[in-house]
Formats: sequence, structure tokens, C-alpha cells
Amino acid sequence: MTTPNTAAAAPTLSEDAAAVVLETRGLTRNFGGLVAVNAVSLRFLSGQTHAVIGPNGAGKSTLVNLLTGHLPVTRGEILFKGRTITNLPAHRVSQLGIGRSYQKTNIFPAFSCFENCRLAAQSRLSTSMRFVRPALAYHTVNEKAQAALEACGLARHRDRAAGTISYGEQRQLEIGMVLATDPQLLVLDEPLAGMGVEESEMLIGLLKRLASRYTVILVEHDMDAVFSLADVLTVMVNGTVLESGPVDMVRASQAVQDAYLGDGEEAY
Ligand SMILES: Nc1ncnc2c1ncn2[C@@H]1O[C@H](COP(=O)(O)OP(=O)(O)OP(=O)(O)O)[C@@H](O)[C@H]1O
Ligand SMILES: [Mg+2]
Repeated sequence: MTTPNTAAAAPTLSEDAAAVVLETRGLTRNFGGLVAVNAVSLRFLSGQTHAVIGPNGAGKSTLVNLLTGHLPVTRGEILFKGRTITNLPAHRVSQLGIGRSYQKTNIFPAFSCFENCRLAAQSRLSTSMRFVRPALAYHTVNEKAQAALEACGLARHRDRAAGTISYGEQRQLEIGMVLATDPQLLVLDEPLAGMGVEESEMLIGLLKRLASRYTVILVEHDMDAVFSLADVLTVMVNGTVLESGPVDMVRASQAVQDAYLGDGEEAY
């Protein structure tokens, strides 16, 4: 296998440029003396689920924060559909079609599930939509919120306060809130974090359905989820990309075995 950074820099013939939804070039983020993300060059292709794994502190969430405008980059570039989005603010990145979820649950507990989705949908509207045509905007936002609630499987809890549904359902709602922003690319940071077996199975089912409709970047520690969902796998260690490529190839990589997965593929 070629090293990931050079592999990403030189497209293969089968990798149609039009299929590249998101690309990073030498993406780097320092925190003082710590290089949390170090010269990461990756391509995320249309329709694929691209999982990013790595031990705690590898730089996965920092990468997500850079991709989604939640952190400024120290060096390097991010291109979305061929156009630079480097250092655009998070709301602009969201409006362009990159939706993200958070490692820690990030809902409004006192608001209903519908309201949570509605607020998310509203955040996607351009300023002109919000202020020039409020009636139309209101209608559009409500429709998007309802569709997102149905897509994440929570229509039955439409009017319940988000804080009163189960933890697993709250994680589902988070996905619904991402869907309400009408994204083309989903960037999900540990959607299964803290879930029990049954809840995980349900959410993996939901993610599988979404994977057939969206391009997905999935940061996840749950290896069952990763292996059942991902087309492409990137392994990060100490801020750098150790390996990146088709799942089976990366799984078989000796470097990954040695540094991360261990003998029995038990990451943790
Ligand atoms: N805002 C910050 N200020 C200083 N250091 C930070 C900040 N955010 C992250 N770091 C550091 O950057 C490194 C990468 O952290 P990051 O959260 O990206 O890792 P991760 O791969 O998401 O880990 P985990 O699997 O535990 O979620 C860690 O050493 C972390 O302590
Ligand atoms: Mg993280």
C-alpha cells in the first residue's frame, strides 16, 4: 500500500475528480506545541462511507472540527466540491451542505424533538430566506424538520421534550438535527458513543439507511459499526494518517495491526 498522504495527492485513474466531494491538502492544526492534526491529505468520495478511526487523542475530532469550520486551520486547505472552504465559519460550511454531529450529545433538552429539528433546519436558511420571505421560510423549515424527524425514526416522539427520550433516542435525534440542515455530506463524530448493544444496533441500522443516500464521514470507535458501514477506512495516530484505503486493505495492513488494531482486532 502506498502511504496515505501521497496516495491522496495523486488521483488514480478510477478516482474521477467529480466524485471527490471533500478533500484536505496538508491539513494541520496545532494547539501550542501539540500538532493535533498533522499534514492530513485525504479524499472523500461521493456516495461512500469513509470511516476515520484511531486511539484516543489521535486527532479525529479535531479533524472534524476543521472540516466543519469549528476550528481554524493552522496550515493546509479544505476543498468542498472543488472549492476552498478553508476557514469559513461553521454556519457557512453548514449552509454549503456539510452537516455534522457531535461526540457529546448536543440537543436542547427542554424543547420538543420537532423543535430541535426545526431549529437545525432554520440554521441552514440563508439570511434572505429568513427575513425577506418569512411565510415561505416558515413552511419550508417545518417541512424539513418533519422529514428529518421521520428519517431519524423519531416521528412518534415529535412533541416530547428531547430531554425525556432515552439516551439512544437522543443520539438519533442528533442525527435528525443534522438531516434537517439538508446536507450532502454527513460528518458524524462518534454517533454510537455511550450506547448499549441494542441501541447501537438500531442506530447502525439508521446509519446504513443514510449511507445509501449520503456521503458520510464516520468517526467511530465501535469496530462492528465501522466494519459493517464503511467503504473506506482511514487510521489516524498522533495526528497523522497511518493508512487509508478500502476497508479490507487497511484491516490487513501490518502497520495498522501493530499500531492500532492489535492481534485480535480488538481496538480497545
Ligand atoms: N481545544 C484544544 N486545546 C488544546 N488541545 C486540544 C484541543 N482539542 C484537542 N486537543 C488535543 O489534541 C489532541 C487530539 O484530540 P482530539 O479530540 O482531536 O482526539 P480524538 O481522536 O477525537 O480522541 P477521542 O477518541 O478521545 O475522541 C489531544 O491530545 C487533545 O488533548
Ligand atoms: Mg474525539
